[in-house]
Amino acid sequence: MTKLLENKTAVVTGAGRGIGKATALLYAEHGANLVLVDIDEAPLKEVLEELTAKGYKAVYKTANITKEADCKDVFSKALEFSPSGVDILANIAGITRDAVIHKMTADEWNFVIDVNLKGTYNMIQASVPAMRDKAKDEGVAATRSIINISSTSGVKGNAGQINYAAAKAGINGITRTVAKEWARFNIRCNSIAPGFIETRLTTAPSDDPKLGIPEQQMQMIQMLYSQTGLQRKEGMGKPQDIANIALFFASDLSSYVSGQVLIAAGAMIDTY
Ligand SMILES: NC(=O)c1ccc[n+]([C@@H]2O[C@H](COP(=O)([O-])OP(=O)(O)OC[C@H]3O[C@@H](n4cnc5c(N)ncnc54)[C@H](O)[C@@H]3O)[C@@H](O)[C@H]2O)c1
Repeated sequence: MTKLLENKTAVVTGAGRGIGKATALLYAEHGANLVLVDIDEAPLKEVLEELTAKGYKAVYKTANITKEADCKDVFSKALEFSPSGVDILANIAGITRDAVIHKMTADEWNFVIDVNLKGTYNMIQASVPAMRDKAKDEGVAATRSIINISSTSGVKGNAGQINYAAAKAGINGITRTVAKEWARFNIRCNSIAPGFIETRLTTAPSDDPKLGIPEQQMQMIQMLYSQTGLQRKEGMGKPQDIANIALFFASDLSSYVSGQVLIAAGAMIDTY
């Protein structure tokens, strides 16, 4: 196998579960050294153990990405781990609190904007010493990449997700802006906008009663998928489907691509 990320250091948020975990494992398989970040320590530790048992180099840092100080601590740890800087930042942590607009509370709105939108902004701003400043000092020979996770909700809107749709659309604005501001340092910035992916966020019942998709809505999504989605052996979206794109954006395979939003929804974009 050709390793696409040899000698690279990657910071991955949301690395304890789902898409973040799949991305961290894939980056490690491709030779990257990992700084794993999540708000929950227990799953993060398990991922670290899985990586180190396979001989990969990784550390973890628990952080709440809504807190600027936590994000700065992540990059202090990353610079201890890799004094030459960080090459890849995958902003994957995210959360939902679904409700239609006439039922949404201020807390639900603020929470989802804080974690998804402000969290992504906080992490990129905190990456300045480890990414932008390193690139500025060293010139443009090294390639660096930021990958943000948006959603089809942020591109098309989605009934019941006004907070999440706004946050994820905002992430696409951040992506295009960082792509323009940091192009001079050869730092690329792209978004992935997944449709339905089987993770804790979508699979009910979950360990958090506020997450997961209600049974009736799930049946509707499955019916739509069976009629209009990609018919493939894996069925509906899996974390690996998104990790594969995160690898493409992290690696030099996408060396001339920046400021893009790539939708990965198994052909369901116009229906779901
Ligand atoms: N699953 C889907 O269908 C889907 C679709 C579109 C976009 N997404 C996005 O993909 C990303 C990954 O989600 P997932 O589906 O793997 O869900 P997940 O719940 O399995 O993983 C998300 C991880 O983010 C962590 N996290 C949440 N809040 C955090 C915070 N404040 N600070 C640090 N870490 C925090 C969680 O602890 C969790 O481990 C999210 O940004 C989500 O919005 C998911």
